[in-house]
Amino acid sequence: FPMQMPELAKCSVLMRERSRVEETIHAMQRAGAGSLQVISDFDMTLTRFAHNGKRVPTTHNILDNRLLINEDCTRKMRELLNTYYPIEIDASRSAEEKLPLMVEWWTKVHELLIEQKIRRDMLAHAVKESSAMLRDGYKVFFECLAEHQVPLLIFSAGVGDVLEEVIRQNHVFHPNIHIISNYMDFDQTGVLQAFKGQLIHTFNKREGALSHAAGLRELQGRPNVVLMGDSLGDLTMADGVSEPQNVLTIGFLNDQVEERKESYINSFDVVLVKDETLDVPNAILRYITSSRDEMQHATLT
Ligand code: TMP
Ligand code: MG
Repeated sequence: FPMQMPELAKCSVLMRERSRVEETIHAMQRAGAGSLQVISDFDMTLTRFAHNGKRVPTTHNILDNRLLINEDCTRKMRELLNTYYPIEIDASRSAEEKLPLMVEWWTKVHELLIEQKIRRDMLAHAVKESSAMLRDGYKVFFECLAEHQVPLLIFSAGVGDVLEEVIRQNHVFHPNIHIISNYMDFDQTGVLQAFKGQLIHTFNKREGALSHAAGLRELQGRPNVVLMGDSLGDLTMADGVSEPQNVLTIGFLNDQVEERKESYINSFDVVLVKDETLDVPNAILRYITSSRDEMQHATLT
């Protein structure tokens, strides 16, 4: 593999077709940063899956804080997680089979949250007190994209307000970031009363891509796409891109590794097995955004 990307030689990096990945990355580098957009999932893709053997909370689970919800709600949300998360990642069920069950999960959780009369001004506290964590290398990732003015579309079935607070508190909420997610709707007194718009869950991102992402002006005229996700449902996040030229998909395989390895290798171009870092996406983005002059310089020195 290109000498500039030793990260891709690690044994945790799996590829069905190395040569295709290589060609795609080269084509994107030749086209330059001006033709590129990055579309990424949030929970367990930009955030870590685990840290020191403990699961890192998703945006929904960050809300599990006494400032926001009571014990009964915590218990019910945990029960729902224990019921539906195994279904979400079950390799033996199809996406079609999972879809109505995901709607059920999200709907129940959102109803529970609304009952709790969550206050907007408590969200920042909840994020501060949580163990939310972006993957190692996140600073390089966000800064590289901002520096080269490459739009980053964060497409999340999590809670948008919480997601924004996580990236804000990590000081990486740059102007090149666009977010599609489930946003809270607060009444005039700042109390949660509903969720806005069409519900987004793990297996209907295609609809969100077509209705929202396709209309984002900042993403127009950028036919090269790096897509990152941790669920097979994330693969449809680029369906709103009109006339895509080169698409490289990167999948984080965090959990149920042996059961899901084959389907991930068949679905994503690059699969990262139990990798808690953004090192591989960073290496790829560093290469794509390096201008030809720099490249020549690198080979001459
Ligand atoms: P993502 O699209 O940003 O990855 O967010 C979706 C993830 O959130 C998905 O993997 C399931 C997870 N989730 C929870 O952890 N708790 C919940 O209550 C719900 C509804 C989803
Ligand atoms: Mg995810």
